[in-house]
Amino acid sequence: MEDKKTLYSAIQPTNNLTIGNYVGAISNWLSLQNDYDCYYAIANMHAITVRQDPAELRRKTVALLALYLACGLDPQKCCFYVQSHVSAHAELCWVLNTFTYVGEMERMTQFKDKSARHAENVNMGLMDYPVLMAADILLYQAHYVPVGEDQRQHLEIARDIAQRFNNIYSPTFTVPEGLFLKVGAKIGDLQDPLKKMSKSAENANGSIFLTDDKDAIIRKFKRAVTDSGSEILFDPENKPGVSNLLTIYSVFTGKTVKEAEADFEGKGYGDFKLAVGEAVADKLAPIQLEQQRLLSDRGYLDNILKEGAEKAAYTAGKTLRKVYKKIGFYQI
Ligand code: TYM
Repeated sequence: MEDKKTLYSAIQPTNNLTIGNYVGAISNWLSLQNDYDCYYAIANMHAITVRQDPAELRRKTVALLALYLACGLDPQKCCFYVQSHVSAHAELCWVLNTFTYVGEMERMTQFKDKSARHAENVNMGLMDYPVLMAADILLYQAHYVPVGEDQRQHLEIARDIAQRFNNIYSPTFTVPEGLFLKVGAKIGDLQDPLKKMSKSAENANGSIFLTDDKDAIIRKFKRAVTDSGSEILFDPENKPGVSNLLTIYSVFTGKTVKEAEADFEGKGYGDFKLAVGEAVADKLAPIQLEQQRLLSDRGYLDNILKEGAEKAAYTAGKTLRKVYKKIGFYQI
């Protein structure tokens, strides 16, 4: 059997996931699971950089696994695990901290944004977030990391840290490459399409959550802002609202953007927004049902996480031992 390249990604089990997470991450992962050795983590260690309710965090952790599966990711093809179940993440993060400069972390846009939003809790973990993310990726010697546009800067720093370490010692880490969708790497907020749709948006009308029911989905799409003019064309620069809706429609129907445009030739914004809402609601309904069904079988889910943690710990352990040896940690 030919050796497959390794792919790594993760999502934080925080707030409610949006269709931005679905499009930018999960839908992309689906198309890749056959061709790569895939690791998909549930990043609960990243999650606690913002204060979480413990019971909610526990519930959302297993709900995220159920969502991965309900979306069609296959446990026979992908390794799913919870980040805190593999202690190598914290251990490598500590080592990599000594290869990362404070100034680099202070410049990260997400750190600046989150520090402003959580001014009462600008903790060290929030600042260290990208180093933990680098540790995640580098432990698995990942070649590719499929993520949305908002993670581009974090991926760049992971590459820098890997190269820095490799140059000081000898090649140790695979230098990962980001995989960004050509269409859908940044789904915009429905009320303000130039802003990314976010799990933690202040205005809930701007985000479609994966748990929203059909009525809520249609209502939010009906209120989505469009642009001046009446043509339904993909032109992100001049028509960011319409282009965002066309992108969503194309991902949720499996059509190309050109085909999506053709579907709405000569139609008005009202029909268009309704059709996008229906496409999203129709796709999400069976996923929601399947997620609920899976959540009623906790034994099955825990088993997947147990096997995932074992496989992940094995792979991560190999890299960690290599690192410890190179930096001079005494071995017994
Ligand atoms: P998180 O949980 O914020 O988001 C999960 C994934 O969803 C993508 N995403 C979007 N894509 C398109 N449009 C949007 N509006 C949108 N909003 C979110 C994100 O880019 C991401 O791919 N730090 C990561 C989790 C993480 C990770 C890792 C990822 C931890 N360790 C290692 C890759 C590799 C995060 O917070 O994602």
